[in-house]
Amino acid sequence: MSFKRKITLKNGDCLKELKKIKDGSVDQIYADPPYNLSGKTHQTVQSGKPVTLNKGDWDVIDDIDEFNLNWVSECIRVLSDNGTIWISGTLHNHPSIGTILKKLGLWIINDVVWYKRNAPPLLSGNRLAPSVELIWVASKSKKYFFNYELGKILNDGKQMRNLWEINAQRHLTKHPTEKPENLIERIILLGSKKDQVILDPFMGSGTTGVVAKRLSRKFIGIELDKEYFDISKERISNVNSTKVILTDKKLILDKDKSEQVLKNIEDN
Ligand SMILES: C[S@@+](CC[C@H](N)C(=O)[O-])C[C@H]1O[C@@H](n2cnc3c(N)ncnc32)[C@H](O)[C@@H]1O
Repeated sequence: MSFKRKITLKNGDCLKELKKIKDGSVDQIYADPPYNLSGKTHQTVQSGKPVTLNKGDWDVIDDIDEFNLNWVSECIRVLSDNGTIWISGTLHNHPSIGTILKKLGLWIINDVVWYKRNAPPLLSGNRLAPSVELIWVASKSKKYFFNYELGKILNDGKQMRNLWEINAQRHLTKHPTEKPENLIERIILLGSKKDQVILDPFMGSGTTGVVAKRLSRKFIGIELDKEYFDISKERISNVNSTKVILTDKKLILDKDKSEQVLKNIEDN
């Protein structure tokens, strides 16, 4: 389905749907794939109580390396020569992703560490409390688009570093792994220009589409699960896209900084 041809949403398996997208037609990819951490041996905390970690059947993958190689290869085919791919994960999937990025001959630009100061506490008391996720950033060559100046504006005039402290947010939908909108806003601002095409092959609740539309980007989203697809569709269609809208509340309250950000978006 498509809204004014700027937003294209597909309910299906990204391994099939990606094959229908033209070579080099996408400017930035944000992928939040299954981390493969659901299962009997993993626990998490819900309402202060330990529970078995189960994000859904989609998060149990027999051969994570084969799965990652297949979808990353297709993403690289559709990525433009100066585009970037940003891939979220934890230690459960990131060694596999890193090996594949190297195997495909990609240029690894950054490993961003997303630090969640408010991550849930560890109840088992036998190791460090997990409070980070990682984001690989890679491109096809050393000539890629990266809005370094906008990074400086966002970081009060100083170089932005690869440690990002952004709190986990209360979910806006029933999706179990919804990403904070302000995390995705930063990724899209740094990695693309207005009117460029953003692709999310594992759309989930549609966070990337919501933020891409607010920032006047075009968006292609793919989601396997019909219920999550419908949530995404509704969430994205509710965004008013007539002008650029910023998401991060702290940024919006800082009038001077948000004006600089909006000017940078228009100038690029
Ligand atoms: C980690 S979640 C993404 C969450 C998303 N970033 C958000 O903010 O809501 C991964 C999503 O990928 C979907 N998924 C899993 N395998 C898929 C596949 N082969 N093709 C398309 N979607 C898939 C799952 O249903 C799940 O909703």
